[in-house]
Amino acid sequence: MKKSIKPSYKLHKNFRLPMGFTPENFDSGITYQAQEKDTFIVTYPKCGTTWTQHIIWMLSHDGKPLPLDKNINLEVPHLEEVGGDFVKYLSKPRFIKTHLTYNLTPYNPDTKYIYVARNPFDCAVSFYYHTQGFIKHYDFAEGTFDDFFECFITGEVDWGDYFDHLLSWVQHKNDQNVLFLTYESMKNDPKMNIIAMAKFLGDNYLEKIENLQILESILHHTSFTSMSQNQSRWSSQRPVNMTPFIRQGKVGDWRSHFSVSQTQRLSQKLRMKTAGTEAENLWQIPE
Ligand code: A3P
Repeated sequence: MKKSIKPSYKLHKNFRLPMGFTPENFDSGITYQAQEKDTFIVTYPKCGTTWTQHIIWMLSHDGKPLPLDKNINLEVPHLEEVGGDFVKYLSKPRFIKTHLTYNLTPYNPDTKYIYVARNPFDCAVSFYYHTQGFIKHYDFAEGTFDDFFECFITGEVDWGDYFDHLLSWVQHKNDQNVLFLTYESMKNDPKMNIIAMAKFLGDNYLEKIENLQILESILHHTSFTSMSQNQSRWSSQRPVNMTPFIRQGKVGDWRSHFSVSQTQRLSQKLRMKTAGTEAENLWQIPE
């Protein structure tokens, strides 16, 4: 039987970081003082972060798509990766990406938080390909989905346990400064979700998308097909033999990866963790 392998991480205060991240930037990131005009895009990894970053970027640039010579992670930077000082010197209004749980995310009652949740099955598959493909961060090129599944279900991955993350935010789902969305709803009705984001950001954003050309441009340039083009805008380079960063963009692709027993184990964990919480009915739980 093949020996199972695990991704490598940089351990920092019981926290697993991708190997390219620095503990200094992580520490300065979590002590950043959130400001009134800041908007955080918050996700557990692989739940639609980049898609949301691009929607928000386009909303704040009159419907223009991110140019080919720019990278979204410099425009809407990842707090834990770049650190608090980088973010502090961004011009306002600031849009910031984070994968932190609610309690670790810099809080200000006048800061806005857009949270995107994705079902754990598709998230696990997407996270597997992410971890396999970023060799310099995880050294997991030979890892299988079965290897990764064991790390995912026990929360032994970067940014920790999927359920801890989801449950920390779902409790704040109805806070006035939180907009709680799901990847599945964004797939099902992108227009409605773009309008919800604009409304949440404020009247001047809503006014922008009343111009139908702007709304249509955002819809077009943030579609899976458009974002699959010129992918150097979204992440650092991945080896050519690995899956692209914008990979499949599907709901339910997990079925081609999960065994019966893996489905049962993750369903059971999802059922148990979300029982009696507002996350209980976010997705239908497979048998
Ligand atoms: P898959 O690996 O299932 O294809 P994140 O940005 O949080 O890392 O999430 C990445 C996931 O979002 C990937 O999922 C990616 O393909 C998907 N994604 C990115 N842009 C998308 C878009 N415009 N429409 C739908 N899915 C998108």
